[in-house]
Amino acid sequence: MNPVPVITIDGPSGSGKGTIAGQVAERLGFTLLDSGALYRTLGIASHKQGIDTADEQQLVCLARSLDISFGKRGLGTVILNGEDVSKDIRTKLGSHLASLVGAIPAARDALFERQLQFRQAPGLVADGRDMGTVVFPDAKLKIFLTASVSERAQRRYKQLIDKGIDANLPDLLAELKERDRRDIERPISPLKPAKDALILDSTELTIDQVTEQILSEFSAKTGT
Ligand code: DC
Repeated sequence: MNPVPVITIDGPSGSGKGTIAGQVAERLGFTLLDSGALYRTLGIASHKQGIDTADEQQLVCLARSLDISFGKRGLGTVILNGEDVSKDIRTKLGSHLASLVGAIPAARDALFERQLQFRQAPGLVADGRDMGTVVFPDAKLKIFLTASVSERAQRRYKQLIDKGIDANLPDLLAELKERDRRDIERPISPLKPAKDALILDSTELTIDQVTEQILSEFSAKTGT
């Protein structure tokens, strides 16, 4: 049994899990794994190299050889082959490609080991779709974070505008619905709560309220 504690935060796009996972990791001094950023980077890398996301063999080779590094404790910056792709991976194209490569079982397998390597003392906060169900089934605390699709679209809109990235609300809503559908319906690692996950609906809650709730659940579980 791996003694390093893990908190998993899974949920659909725009549920706030990325920001919340970052805050929880910061407060506990834990490492952060933004697994969506790995899928996004694989999608962008395949695009840059002209690899079709349906070409499994080439995609797997690429996934295994990806030279990718994250900024301090995994927050914000993503470097691919020495190039800062932090903005590229958050674009509409980056989201779309991530969802496509995420539906390919061999690509998921190729990223699996890489995700396990983030489990380092004193602990890990991992956010994604299958962190609690597939990658870290022995996590100490599993959260499934949801919010209504319209609230999630509003949040994503604000996030993009704040970052200086062009956005259109009706388009974002349609894209979110399509991405939810693809993530939920795919046969491998679909987006679904782990049996032992705590389900939190953040529609009416602030980021800080959700963060506090997760921290208090974790401290109740670990007796700290
Ligand atoms: O969390 P995110 O929005 O950055 O994720 C982008 C896409 O990556 C999402 O549509 C599906 C895929 N993904 C996945 O399949 N498995 C994960 N653990 C994380 C993300």
